[in-house]
Amino acid sequence: MFKFLRIILLILLVSANLAYADQYSALYPGGDPVAGKVLLEKNCIQCHASSFGGDGSAIYTRENRLVKTSRGLKAQVRNCNTMLGLKWFEDEELSVTSYLNQTYYHFEK
Ligand code: HEC
Repeated sequence: MFKFLRIILLILLVSANLAYADQYSALYPGGDPVAGKVLLEKNCIQCHASSFGGDGSAIYTRENRLVKTSRGLKAQVRNCNTMLGLKWFEDEELSVTSYLNQTYYHFEK
């Protein structure tokens, strides 16, 4: 019986967490954070990791980070895309942006 309750509780927690995370990706309609994660891992992380160590994510969470707003985040992803000549489409930029906001930046508007 208690095991059953624990499972229900776990499911509630997980779904609350998903809804919470989604608030951040919802700022970028048309973006898919799951696809964004894959794109980011494939094209972007290696270089960040080589200068910031670990998985490179410290670049997004450092105290003096560059990106300050949700619009700034989108602009930064676009700049990187252009600079690297990746030729991503708008939806791919939005996917990476929504993943970064969902996981690291947490801009609410
Ligand atoms: C060749 C190396 C390199 C590659 C590849 C690269 N970046 Fe960066 N990125 C950097 C460096 C260096 C900075 C920090 C610039 C600074 O501090 O002035 C940065 C900063 C950023 C920031 C801002 C972090 C902050 O301070 O808030 C974001 C977001 C970002 N990169 C996203 C991307 C994305 C998305 C890609 C893939 C499309 C990518 N980067 C690929 C080197 C790279």
